[in-house]
Amino acid sequence: MKTWAMTVLIAALLSGCGREKEPGTQTVRLGDARRGRALYLTNCAACHNSDPSKDGTIGPAVKGASRELIEARVMRATYPPDYKPRRKTAAMPAQPYLASSIPDLAAFLNPAAN
Ligand code: HEC
Repeated sequence: MKTWAMTVLIAALLSGCGREKEPGTQTVRLGDARRGRALYLTNCAACHNSDPSKDGTIGPAVKGASRELIEARVMRATYPPDYKPRRKTAAMPAQPYLASSIPDLAAFLNPAAN
């Protein structure tokens, strides 16, 4: 057997063919609705209503907003493709520093889907 083939074989045996790789090291974080509510009251309710099912002083009702819509609005102040916005204005600023909180906001605004 050639040396390189031996090396590959030994390396494969030593690594246990990847068997000791920890399964499930990547976790999808589920949203925390209580945290989402607090974040909403702090970052969104100045324009949207503190009751998200009602229109606010500046922004429309946002209850039931999908995670995709929340992400588009909060990260980029855009909308998902083919989404029909409730308002034609462009008054809402993006708040990309909330990136890691989008699952929480989604859990609060749309508990059924998250
Ligand atoms: C400075 C005021 C302001 C703040 C702060 C704000 N919004 Fe908005 N938001 C608006 C306005 C106004 C609209 C309507 C579109 C526009 O003018 O940008 C809107 C639209 C939206 C929409 C789309 C509604 C629809 O169905 O068309 C969502 C969802 C939304 N905001 C979520 C949020 C969330 C979540 C936060 C907090 C992280 C937030 N907004 C913070 C003013 C604001």
